[in-house]
Amino acid sequence: MKYNNINFNKKTILITGGAGFIGSNLAFYFQKNYPESNIVIFDIFRNDETFSNGSLKSFGHYKNLLGFNGIVISGNINDKIALKSLEDNYKFDYIFHQAAISDTTVREQDIMIKTNVNAYENLLKVAINHGANMIYASSAATYGDSDRFEVGYEKPNNAYGFSKVMMDNITYKYIKQGVDISIVGLKYFNVYGKREFYKDKTASMIVQFAHQILKGLTPKLFEGSDKILRDFIYIDDIIQANILACNPIKSGIYNVGTGKARSFEDIVNILQGELGIDNSKEYIANPFIGQYQFFTEANIDTIKQNLGYKPKYNLEDGIKAYIPEIKRLFKVEIENVK
Ligand SMILES: NC(=O)c1ccc[n+]([C@@H]2O[C@H](COP(=O)([O-])OP(=O)(O)OC[C@H]3O[C@@H](n4cnc5c(N)ncnc54)[C@H](O)[C@@H]3O)[C@@H](O)[C@H]2O)c1
Repeated sequence: MKYNNINFNKKTILITGGAGFIGSNLAFYFQKNYPESNIVIFDIFRNDETFSNGSLKSFGHYKNLLGFNGIVISGNINDKIALKSLEDNYKFDYIFHQAAISDTTVREQDIMIKTNVNAYENLLKVAINHGANMIYASSAATYGDSDRFEVGYEKPNNAYGFSKVMMDNITYKYIKQGVDISIVGLKYFNVYGKREFYKDKTASMIVQFAHQILKGLTPKLFEGSDKILRDFIYIDDIIQANILACNPIKSGIYNVGTGKARSFEDIVNILQGELGIDNSKEYIANPFIGQYQFFTEANIDTIKQNLGYKPKYNLEDGIKAYIPEIKRLFKVEIENVK
C-alpha cells in the first residue's frame, strides 16, 4: 500500500530504533513497497540490563527483523562517535527517528533526557547536514494531565512525557531558524499491532489481554474500565502518518490517533468476540490512580489538513487485522516455550 507518490527507491533511509516495534514495521514497509530503497537500521538492541523499574533498558529484538535484507547497525544514539560514523559513511534522504527509552515508567531521568532529548538534537544536526527530512516520534504522553489533546496544550506528568516535550521544543527552535529540511514530530497515541510483542509488559493491552484470554485466564481489568478511555491506533495508520510526513505542507508537530477514544472494556469485549472465547472479566483496584491517564483522544484536524492523513482502522478493524498475528505469537512464543 503506497500512501503518496514519493518514489523511495534508490533513497537512503535511516531508521533509528529499527529493531523495535514501530521502526521495524517502517523498515518492512519500505522493503516491501520500495525494494530498491537503501534502508539503514541503527539500534542498540537488547541485552539483559534493566532499569530500576525492572524493564529492559532497550527492547530492540532481532526477531522483529527476521526477513529484513537491509543494513543493521548495533549502536547507541548517545555515542557521538557512532553518529559521526553514520554521518560520514552515508548520505541520508530521510531519517525516521524512533529510537528512545519508550517505557513511560522509567525513573532514571538522567539517561531518559540524554537518550530521548540530547541524542535527538544531535541526529537533527546530521539530518540538516545531509539535507534529509526528519520524521521523529513524539508522544501523547506529552499531554499527561492535560484535558485538551491538541498541540500547544501539553502537560507532561512523567520524565518520559517531559522528554518528548523537550524534543518538540527543539523542533520548534530549528523550524523557526528556517532550516532547509522538513521536520515533522508525530505524537503517537496508544499504538498496537505486529512486532510489539517484544516490548514485554510495555506492549499494548490489546496483545496482553488477547494472550490472557488464549491462555484460558480471566482478563483482569482495572475497576471502572468502561470509563477509562484511550485513543488506540493500529500500526498501519502509524506507518501511513510517517510516510505522509515525508512531504508535509508544513513542518510541525502532529497528533496521530483515530480521533475516537475507546475503553479497555471495549478491547476485552472485541477480543473475546474475535477469539470466540468468553471467559468473563475480573476487576482489580487500579494502583496507578493519580499518575494515570483516564482519557486521551487525539484531535486530528491539523494532521488531516497538513499531511492528508486519514485513519483507516477503528478499534474493531485493527483488532480483527491483528488476530492472526496474535494467534501466531501465542503458538510460537507462549505455548512452545511453556
Ligand atoms: N508504541 C507506542 O504506543 C508509542 C506511543 C507514543 C510514542 N512512541 C514512541 O515511538 C518510538 C518507537 O516506539 P516503539 O513502540 O517502537 O518502542 P520500542 O521500544 O519497541 O522501540 C524503540 C527502539 O529504540 C531502541 N533504543 C533504545 N535506546 C537506544 C539507544 N540509546 N540507541 C539506539 N537505539 C536505542 C530500542 O532498542 C528499541 O528497539 C519511541 O520513540 C517511542 O517513545 C511509541
